[in-house]
Amino acid sequence: MIGQSKRLGIVFLSGVSMVTLTAGLASADPMPPEQSMSNLSYELLGRDELWTYRALDAYSEAPYLSALVAAGALPPIEERLPAEPLVHLTAAMSDGIGEYGGVFRHVIGGRPEGWNWLAGQHQGWGGINMAMQECLVRLGPLWQVRAEDQSGPLPNLAKSWEWNEDKTELTMHLIEGARWSDGDPFDTEDIRFWWEDNVLDANVTSRMPADGMGEGTTMTVIDDFTFRFDFLTPQGPARLQNLAYIQGCPGPSHVMMSIHPTYNPDATYESYRTGQPADVLSPVVMGMFVPVVHEVDELVIMRRNPYFWKVDETGQQLPYYNEMHFKLSTWDDRTTQTVAGTGDFSNMENPGNYVAALVQSQQEDSPVLAQFGPRVLSWRIELNFSDRGVEDDVDTALRELFRNLDFRVAFSHSLDREAIGQSIARGPFTYPYTGGFEVGSPFYDADSTVYFPYDPAKANEMFDALGLADTDGNGIRNLPNGGADLEIDMLYANNRTEDRKQLDAVTSMMAEVGVRILPTAVEDIAVIAKGGNFNTLLRRQQWVIPTREVCLQIPIDGACPDFHMEEEDGGRVLFDFERDILAAFEVINNTWDAAEAAQAATVIQQAWTENVYTIGTVQAPAALLINKRIRNAHPGTPVFMFEWAEDGVVRERLWTPAELQLDELLPGTIAEY
Ligand code: GLA
Repeated sequence: MIGQSKRLGIVFLSGVSMVTLTAGLASADPMPPEQSMSNLSYELLGRDELWTYRALDAYSEAPYLSALVAAGALPPIEERLPAEPLVHLTAAMSDGIGEYGGVFRHVIGGRPEGWNWLAGQHQGWGGINMAMQECLVRLGPLWQVRAEDQSGPLPNLAKSWEWNEDKTELTMHLIEGARWSDGDPFDTEDIRFWWEDNVLDANVTSRMPADGMGEGTTMTVIDDFTFRFDFLTPQGPARLQNLAYIQGCPGPSHVMMSIHPTYNPDATYESYRTGQPADVLSPVVMGMFVPVVHEVDELVIMRRNPYFWKVDETGQQLPYYNEMHFKLSTWDDRTTQTVAGTGDFSNMENPGNYVAALVQSQQEDSPVLAQFGPRVLSWRIELNFSDRGVEDDVDTALRELFRNLDFRVAFSHSLDREAIGQSIARGPFTYPYTGGFEVGSPFYDADSTVYFPYDPAKANEMFDALGLADTDGNGIRNLPNGGADLEIDMLYANNRTEDRKQLDAVTSMMAEVGVRILPTAVEDIAVIAKGGNFNTLLRRQQWVIPTREVCLQIPIDGACPDFHMEEEDGGRVLFDFERDILAAFEVINNTWDAAEAAQAATVIQQAWTENVYTIGTVQAPAALLINKRIRNAHPGTPVFMFEWAEDGVVRERLWTPAELQLDELLPGTIAEY
């Protein structure tokens, strides 16, 4: 076992970087020293040691599926599996080959928006999206792979790929003979529909934006299982990471085409987006579980997908569990229930619960194990730079201010990040965050991180210099030229306690420098943010691996990021530093040299933090809580690195010994179509 004292991932360049200040009155400090709390331990493997694709001599299935086959309700297992299924290798399993049966219980704070992930809908987060969607490639389990073997993603629906010599053509090969959960063949028609009618269709808000594979990239189907991307410029292995969850996940074309406006003259884009409502079951998936019951605000029950295309080395079809639950509750309750033993899994990401949960999890009879990872959770304030959705002169004036670097620097100087951290958790858990990559990211570089620390005198000076005086003497600054009080509405998620606590701290700190923050609770902040119609918001949002969900971070497309989308008429003026960030991001996508990628990441870090692109608050480690009944929950799994732990822990290979299994609510059943 290797302790996690070294960084995951890539070679580091500790380049000297000079802080260049564009703001006249601004001053930046070095970051204070950081101490990791991580206690993950793991042995790293080669990328081919996790899984492979090959035919096995014989296959078997959960016993109740054999009964359904005998009753004629399902074809035999050999007909349901691909000729060469994905085989999870025993060497990568911390407890080895599993036993069938039982239930895995998740608790989540989200609610399914709908089943149409092609049109960008989420299914409630917390691992439910990922239990249904399968993507061309996979990132989560890369934490288990040796650094020198980490370039590019792991195969998944795409089992292999090759580049032409000048790296402008990427030919990908799909797994052959895999089927959707209703038995329909999975093939390049699903890829074509995903790409042409969702990614490229400007009327569909797909998670992969139109330029998500690089501007001008085209895709051509070659045969049923082969397709090719053609790029305008040479690309590198990181480009493929953009095809992982949540960006490169096809949907069932045989179902979805019939409700898409390109194929159905009666359909509209709105009827398409909402055409797979969360209360209509069951959606057709490639994932290991299929939702079969949805009791609103109570529970989603999922049953195993009898066509799932992954097996273990003994030929047992995966997953090992028969049933998966998603109790629809709150994110805090996820941790509470997991500590209490009524839930099986939590990414403990609510620092307010850390002390109590850690104490309890250390009791001998505790049902749960807790493992801390590096600091990768971060919270940030996003100021909207676009004029999208402005309703009045005040909105217009605010957006104008947000685009002013001095305003953002002054905002940063107003925040006492120590105090914000202590407001969510007493103790050593949090560390100041300034934006950009988190300290636990393999791409973090302290020397390129510009920090404008707490300095209310400086903040006041800078706000004064911006003409934001308190002209009516009520303690609140006014917008320039005798305008209205400087009041800024700031959205936060009503189901995230930590966000609210931080916002309270931010609100009182901003009041100290004469700026009134108006906290505004919203139900589904991700959906509102995606629409780009807000002034400011505070949320947990991290950027650990540059190519993961890039649309949340930088303007790779007119629809990204949420805080700087194109205006309704298509206009947008990018900051010069955004162009620098985009150029560095291109280097990361195009290079085959890890050191060059690391160097480009420092350019992003420098540009992001010296321009206060977002206003970071704090960053914290998270602990993975898993019930002790669960086998193969590898103790090295980080809560978040390449992807969330629900992906990183590889749930299809989790299992529980028969004597410890929980009773199923719907034994013997599968989804009906
Ligand atoms: C939410 C949770 C995270 C994680 C992700 C998975 O964001 O807060 O801990 O479970 O969902 O998508």
